[in-house]
Amino acid sequence: MTQQVSQSPATEEGEWWRSAVIYQIYPRSFNDSDGDGLGDLPGIVDRLDYLADLGVDALWLSPFYVSPQHDAGYDVSDYRDVDPRFGTLEDFDRMRARMAELGMRLIVDLVPNHTSSEHEWFRAAVAAGPGSPERDRYMFRDGRGEHGELPPNNWRSVFGGEAWTRLPDGQWYLHLFDSTQPDLNWENPEVWEEFRSVLRFWLDRGADGFRVDVAHGLVKAEGLPDWDHQVHMVEGEHDAREHDAPDTPLSTGSPYFDQDGVHEVYRDWHRVLAEYDGDRMLVAEAWVEPAHRLAMYVRSDEMHQAFNFDFLVAGWDWARMSRAIEDSLAESANVGAPTTWVLSNHDTVRHVSRFGLTDPIAYPKGIDADSEQPDHEQGLARGRAAALVELALPGSAYLYQGDELGLPDHTRLPAELRQDPAFARTGGEEIGRDGCRVPLPWAAGEPGHGFGADPWLPQPEEFAQLAADRQVGVPDSTHTVYRTALRVRRELGLGRGSFAWHASHDAATGLLSFVNTTGAGERVLVAANLGGAPVPLPAGEPLVLSSRDAVQDGVLRPERAVWWRLAP
Ligand code: NOJ
Ligand code: MG
Repeated sequence: MTQQVSQSPATEEGEWWRSAVIYQIYPRSFNDSDGDGLGDLPGIVDRLDYLADLGVDALWLSPFYVSPQHDAGYDVSDYRDVDPRFGTLEDFDRMRARMAELGMRLIVDLVPNHTSSEHEWFRAAVAAGPGSPERDRYMFRDGRGEHGELPPNNWRSVFGGEAWTRLPDGQWYLHLFDSTQPDLNWENPEVWEEFRSVLRFWLDRGADGFRVDVAHGLVKAEGLPDWDHQVHMVEGEHDAREHDAPDTPLSTGSPYFDQDGVHEVYRDWHRVLAEYDGDRMLVAEAWVEPAHRLAMYVRSDEMHQAFNFDFLVAGWDWARMSRAIEDSLAESANVGAPTTWVLSNHDTVRHVSRFGLTDPIAYPKGIDADSEQPDHEQGLARGRAAALVELALPGSAYLYQGDELGLPDHTRLPAELRQDPAFARTGGEEIGRDGCRVPLPWAAGEPGHGFGADPWLPQPEEFAQLAADRQVGVPDSTHTVYRTALRVRRELGLGRGSFAWHASHDAATGLLSFVNTTGAGERVLVAANLGGAPVPLPAGEPLVLSSRDAVQDGVLRPERAVWWRLAP
């Protein structure tokens, strides 16, 4: 791609999400205000100044709704209330009000593919029996076999095991995830009405947007035909390596993911949001490929953003990262949507740990004590460099809590403490996502590194030196790199700039380099050295370095990155 690709223009005021830096909070692990070992909404309020100082524009909160917590809140039993473990609706209002004072937007999580099995609808469905309107809100079917003793089809749960569970009365219900997460029936108008109402509930309470969970899953293929593949949560749709064969993605042909019918739902929600002022938005969690299928979710009358998982799974690899950048910029430009950039979230091994493995494109489903242990220094150096790539690309960027501290996964969690349902449902074959979900370290030397004496998951020893109080204001800390980058990004308007590869972008050296030309006409060279040898930079001066030692005598060291103001 030699031509310049510009993000669609928007006024500074309007469509804030086009260039926003959005910080993901995983509430149970962010900050605990009451010492019960689980983070909570008042705990978030206590850290809003920290987040404002870091310089993020918006927060996305993973679910805090009433839930039995079989999938850490992605099993919602009441969509209109806060789980008492996390606080109250009043706490939510206080949080929202303080965020408004700080000029921060709020994205809440919406889980429309399934409810908890403790949701009143599902209880009613179980009680009402086969053929009832209550059952029609979910995916109930009779079984196969002489006495219906076999599941209705061969689908596997994303978390392992069968995707069907049988009730004592003989009928089976579908759950693409855990058996406590029954799938809703999106052919039922009541389901549509309910989610419109849930959207309005949170829009009225000040939500600026929704992160839509399993956005590609709501609609299932007519007749629920058999399908012989296993889709895993942690790797999305595929093994990361299959990106090398972009035309044969596993999602193609899946009878339960990326059905064309899902787009009708998002057109409907788009209309609901449009009734509100203030540029409300929807962001899709859709593990869909290739990139043009994903772009369909962000057509102008559907959602506003989709997570860019191609970039997330690219690894520390020049060719894969280059292709992910190029394809996603091109595909989103085609539909006029902004690109998003993300390196980690609560479903992936943190990038600092992934980049610390021998295989630079490794994408493990969790790491445990028997796995290769990441090299923290290598992972951190690469992670900081990748963050400078992420934050300099035009579009919107998502940070996962703790990215700014350079946190690794807990890679030695004992099996008996693991809570991810994928671990139990695969009999431990899938290590699962607990390692990236451990509570944040706020203060070195205090109980639970400042999270409290009894965090719901223990933290690894490495967290001591990575605690926020060891990094805030400290020159060359990871926190300082992020904070500086966010300030410069804002000052120069990099999120709304335009992109072009630089002449030095070269597979042979491993230098990944592009120019972001800002609205003000400033040309910023962004260069990351993914190769093994130092690479000279063109004439210019440093704006932000991934580490103090990144550039020496105009030469960029391996595993480092720089924002470089090009000489005019
Ligand atoms: C995606 C969420 O990010 C993940 O944490 C959850 O387990 C599944 N969807 C099911 O809701
Ligand atoms: Mg608490």
